[in-house]
Amino acid sequence: MRILTTREELLDARRGLNEAAGIGFVPTMGFLHEGHVSLMERSAADNEVSIATIFVNPTQFNEAADLDSYPRDPEGDAQKCRDAGVDILWMPEIPSVYADDHSTTVTVGGVTSALCGAARPGHFDGVATIVCKLFNLVRPDRAYFGEKDYQQLAMIRRMVRDLDMQLEIVGMPIVRDTDGVALSSRNKHLNGEQRAQARSLRESLEAARVAWQRGERSAAALRQVIRARIEVEPLADIDYVDVVGTRSVAPYGDAIIEDATCVAAVAVRFGATRLIDNARLDRPQPVWTP
Ligand code: PAF
Repeated sequence: MRILTTREELLDARRGLNEAAGIGFVPTMGFLHEGHVSLMERSAADNEVSIATIFVNPTQFNEAADLDSYPRDPEGDAQKCRDAGVDILWMPEIPSVYADDHSTTVTVGGVTSALCGAARPGHFDGVATIVCKLFNLVRPDRAYFGEKDYQQLAMIRRMVRDLDMQLEIVGMPIVRDTDGVALSSRNKHLNGEQRAQARSLRESLEAARVAWQRGERSAAALRQVIRARIEVEPLADIDYVDVVGTRSVAPYGDAIIEDATCVAAVAVRFGATRLIDNARLDRPQPVWTP
């Protein structure tokens, strides 16, 4: 595996690749876990050349403290990338990515209005802009994203479609720990009590899925099932609980859901740590544990 840091090194390496070779791409912010590894292994399996990036993108953080405390482990990450079959790893510093006078922002409308888009103003503009830049630098045939960031994945699919970007977006199932908690770089910040209570996210989504299976189609009732499970936990501070369209990511509000499928999504704070999770209600959650 080649580890590159500057923009010139990356562009040089990319120019050296046979255009006919399938190029897979996994963008990350590092502190890699089995969820990232599953994306990298799939990229390595699907493509002749697999490229990953590790860049903690400052423009997608709403709070400076969140950016400062974002966990980092460059050496451990490089080893995980190597083991997962990555051929080229780009780990740039900020000046290799953003010019001092960078002044262009990519905004994807619609799918970013609710959930994290409403809770974290500007966040998705930061994600869309960096992902667009990375796609332009790497020029991959396929890029891999986890379904845990459901709205992010929907936004990237929409951006690729709307801007005629010539690559395939591959969504990969949520990877959970054995206690059901979705893997996230932020889990590191949870203490033992918070971690135990974080199980309520997955359990609340599963309760909604069971209600859906029994015929519940009221979005308000489904939200209430989720809230009721999470609110049992004294340390859980709900940011949002919502039920949205799978493609539109638009909340159903108080409607009776007539679509055959929908997604329930939650964001919950445990102290300073904000966790998100989601589930399609019309099918059993693929339980994927490392
Ligand atoms: O999902 C992430 O880790 C980030 O949002 C991404 C896609 C790497 C952009 O910084």
